[in-house]
Formats: sequence, C-alpha cells, structure tokens
Amino acid sequence: MKVGFYQFAPEFGNVKFNVQKTVDAITAVDADLIVLPELFNTGYQFISRKEAISLSEKIPTGYTIKTLKKLSAKKNIYIVAGIAENSEGKLYNSAILTGPDGIIGIYRKTHLFYEEKLWFSPGDTGFKAWPTPIGNIGIMICFDWFFPESARTLALRGADVIAHPSNLVLPYCPDAMVTRCLENRVFAVTSNRTGSEKRRDKERLEFIGKSQITSPRGEILHRASDNKEEIFIAEIDIGKARNKNLNSFNNIFSDRRKKLYE
Ligand code: ACM
Repeated sequence: MKVGFYQFAPEFGNVKFNVQKTVDAITAVDADLIVLPELFNTGYQFISRKEAISLSEKIPTGYTIKTLKKLSAKKNIYIVAGIAENSEGKLYNSAILTGPDGIIGIYRKTHLFYEEKLWFSPGDTGFKAWPTPIGNIGIMICFDWFFPESARTLALRGADVIAHPSNLVLPYCPDAMVTRCLENRVFAVTSNRTGSEKRRDKERLEFIGKSQITSPRGEILHRASDNKEEIFIAEIDIGKARNKNLNSFNNIFSDRRKKLYE
C-alpha cells in the first residue's frame, strides 16, 4: 500500500486555487492514499464566524467535496482532506474520506484547539476506522494527537493507518507521533501545512511543516522539512499494524487493565 501526504501552504480564502493546486499535485503521483492538511482548501485563521460560514461546505454538494470525489474516481485513490463542514447551521472542523466509489466517511474534530472554539462545534462523530480494500483507515485531526485516547480508540476500532490532517503550530507533535504509533502499533500519516497566517489584528501563526509518516514500531519513515512544499509517498505493509503481540507474553491490547484505568 502506498500512502503519502501533500504538505503545502494554502492561500487563505482562495478555495479554487488551493483545490486546483492539490488536484495537480495528486494527479502527478502514484499512490493508494493521500492525506491533505486540516482546512486545506480554506486556510486556518478565520476572523469571524461569518467568514468561516462563507468558506464552509455542505457534504456532499460542496465544490471541494465534488472535486475530490471526481479525483478519487479518476485516479482510483483514497483521499483524506480537512475542510470546514457546514451541517444544518453548525460548523465542524472535519475531514472527509473519499475513495474510487465516492464518499466513505466524515470525521468531525473532537478536540478543538484555541480559537477554533469560536467558530466550530466540537465534533460529534467519534473515532471511526473505515474498512477499505487497501486497509482500515482511521482519522483524527491535528490537536486530537494531544489526547492519547484518540489514537488508542482508532487502533482499538481496527485502524491500520491513522490519517492525520493537521495545521500544527506547537512543536511537539512529530516526535509525539512516534509514541502514538508505537503504543498502538499503527501507521500514521500526519499531513501538516507550512507558511504562516496573520489576519487583521490577530497574532501571526507559524505552521511547523514536518509532515510525517510513522510506522507501528515508531520509526519515522519520512519527515518533511519545516518550510517546503512536498508530496511524499511511502510503501507500507499494513500487516505490521495487525500484529499486536510484542513477544510471546505480551499483547498490547489484551494486556490492557481497563478496570484500573477508570
Ligand atoms: C491544531 O489543532 N490545528 C493545532
């Protein structure tokens, strides 16, 4: 299975430009699954709820969603992409999973970061792993990594690969994903953005790049630079995510002492 990310700097508010740039990048590569950053089509730093609403999309009728659906079918590829979802007047920081046959799943970010709380409702989908012919794909978004329960829940629900659209501003996540993958024996594809945003009188946000593919043994298969655009694909063996035995005595799932955790 060939999995990858597209790291770039979206232009705030320029949805058509960001989507076309992404379509061109994905069209040029050979992959089974590509993960895009959080809010890849809109940019990140909204200045009002009204603005966030104006850049949000309904599923399945929105421009970005229809374009990704078409691309998935044409390229026979799975895509995980972060978008601002508009559902019955509520906004969610969501990620959509598309495949050759259409939309497969929607995940709404559970743990909202900083000013996201001003625009978005906390996600209500919970953590899911969608079975596909290329493997079980789970999704969490950016700051969800800070809560180990996110990756754990995805792994317990059968995720082989955690697709992790991100707009990271804190420095810790790329190193932390080593532990998240090791303790759950899963692959993760963290797709982060580069560049910075400073809208009106808001503080400048610097995004850290360093998108990363991490293995179930905690190996960093590839880490991108902190400031350059890059599309990167790695060949992975999902069988490695399905063996939860550490040795003949320890299985990371059946050894859990759930009663003592509560
Ligand atoms: C983040 O969750 N975008 C830091």
